[in-house]
Amino acid sequence: MAALSEKEAEAYLDARPRYPMDWYKKIAAQTQDHKFAWDVGTGSGQAAIGLVEHYENVVATDINEAQLKRAVKHSRISYHHTPKNMSEDEVVALVGGENSIDLIVAAQAVHFFDLTTFYNIAKRVLRKEGGLIAIWVYNDIIISPEVDPIMKRLVDSTLPFRTPIMNLAFDSYKTLPFPFKSVGMGSEGKPVTLDIQHKLSLKGFIGFLRSWQPAMKAKEQGVELVNEDLRNKFEEAWGDENQVKDVFYKAHMIVGKIKEVKCESEQVCKDGNKDLLHQTEVGRKQERRQPSDEENRQIKKQNTSEDEAC
Ligand SMILES: C[S@@+](CC[C@H](N)C(=O)[O-])C[C@H]1O[C@@H](n2cnc3c(N)ncnc32)[C@H](O)[C@@H]1O
Repeated sequence: MAALSEKEAEAYLDARPRYPMDWYKKIAAQTQDHKFAWDVGTGSGQAAIGLVEHYENVVATDINEAQLKRAVKHSRISYHHTPKNMSEDEVVALVGGENSIDLIVAAQAVHFFDLTTFYNIAKRVLRKEGGLIAIWVYNDIIISPEVDPIMKRLVDSTLPFRTPIMNLAFDSYKTLPFPFKSVGMGSEGKPVTLDIQHKLSLKGFIGFLRSWQPAMKAKEQGVELVNEDLRNKFEEAWGDENQVKDVFYKAHMIVGKIKEVKCESEQVCKDGNKDLLHQTEVGRKQERRQPSDEENRQIKKQNTSEDEAC
């Protein structure tokens, strides 16, 4: 799957929620400074526009230019394209340098990243004193007693097409490695669950399904899950097609800060930092069984084919 096309990026912008202002307020209250925030995997700026209320400068990056082109403009948000071939050093320099960022946010995005690379960069740019990293994902959407059972059947029908990346999202980030120290807003393996309220029209909802990765993945394999029959069922269940409904998404968040590593010697300290990702609770569990060569090939194939998708 390639990056979202122009049309899909347009549907994404129309249908996807921004996030509650309350979230930024609570997180910002825990960062020491409020000069620089980095919204990574910004899409069309859904989180950047909230961050700018609390941080003087927001740098927002994405690998998909179609998304960035539609990003919501603001004088204190700078958007940058970070193509796949950018080196870690280049990304670090672009977003502000070592030890410079007060808050990193990856909204609905971290499960698409190469986690080792991203966490390395995050640890370099995050301020060691008072810097935070927040990640969140939303998966379930609650619309109405008529629409929800149809949506549940659709979600169930995606099972054969799910990839490891999608499963991290479906699993509400419970199995996502997160090598940072908890600050009381979720922790590795135990995200906090929150609601996102949003208003959605029938057209917006169909647009949401159009930019919804599991359905896109099935389509790639020749199966149209969101077919005409299903659209008719949704339309009937929606009722008045002009009605804008109050819906909410179930979101799952983890916020953390850099772990302090106690060093017995400089060498032990260096090695300790390098291995931090693997020393996490989830990382340890995952290490118990190593994937076979064939599984590795499959994961690699899936990662390269969908790392830009939503
Ligand atoms: C589901 S969208 C989330 C967009 C937005 N943050 C939001 O909250 O709606 C995921 C975004 O991550 C971007 N992305 C995927 N891999 C990336 C990477 N390695 N570096 C930067 N952005 C990436 C995609 O292009 C996409 O715009």
